[in-house]
Amino acid sequence: MALLSHVTRKTLTESLRLGLKSHVRGLQTFTLPDLPYDYGALEPAISGEIMQLHHQKHHQTYITNYNKALEQLDQAINKGDASAVVKLQSAIKFNGGGHVNHSIFWKNLTPVSEGGGEPPHASLGWAIDTNFGSIEALIQKMNAEGAALQGSGWVWLGVDKESKKLVVETTANQDPLVTKGPNLVPLLGIDVWEHAYYLQYKNVRPDYLKNIWKVINWKYAGQVYQKECP
Ligand SMILES: [Fe+2]
Repeated sequence: MALLSHVTRKTLTESLRLGLKSHVRGLQTFTLPDLPYDYGALEPAISGEIMQLHHQKHHQTYITNYNKALEQLDQAINKGDASAVVKLQSAIKFNGGGHVNHSIFWKNLTPVSEGGGEPPHASLGWAIDTNFGSIEALIQKMNAEGAALQGSGWVWLGVDKESKKLVVETTANQDPLVTKGPNLVPLLGIDVWEHAYYLQYKNVRPDYLKNIWKVINWKYAGQVYQKECP
């Protein structure tokens, strides 16, 4: 009887363990989000060819590699392999960051016919004037910092959810904005990797930065700001 109880308990524990593992793995699997507009809808600011490649190939690759790394992490944790857990951190940061950043980027853009490029109103408009002087001054600052960023990375407009101040930051590679401060929430991120502009703008990153403002979705940025600073 004692042996039977032991076996039953062990089986139950095993089932629970497997169920939990499957649940955790289910939560950790990510898929490519749909774009809220057609690939060609941002032309002429950003070509349909760039948008399609950027979304279907680049973003998808970050997701595929992120899922792979998370599965390996799950296995390493289950095996108690501390060294493998540590080794996976850079792949998780790079590919997970790539997924997080691009998911925001698609929402930061919208066709001109849907309000792309229309300056922010309400509280975000006031906050930009207070923090940077004007929307033009903010754009100039982000373009200058984006153009000066060496190699690949992102230029961000964020809000510090504690101090409620707006900040402009750059991050290298696929580092998300939160790596520059735990209270920073991204309102607007501009991808300055060559894959975001090279097919259309060649090596002239400043022209890409100049034109992207024509399709920026300030409405979305305003909604995120409103949520953080009601
Ligand atoms: Fe990108």
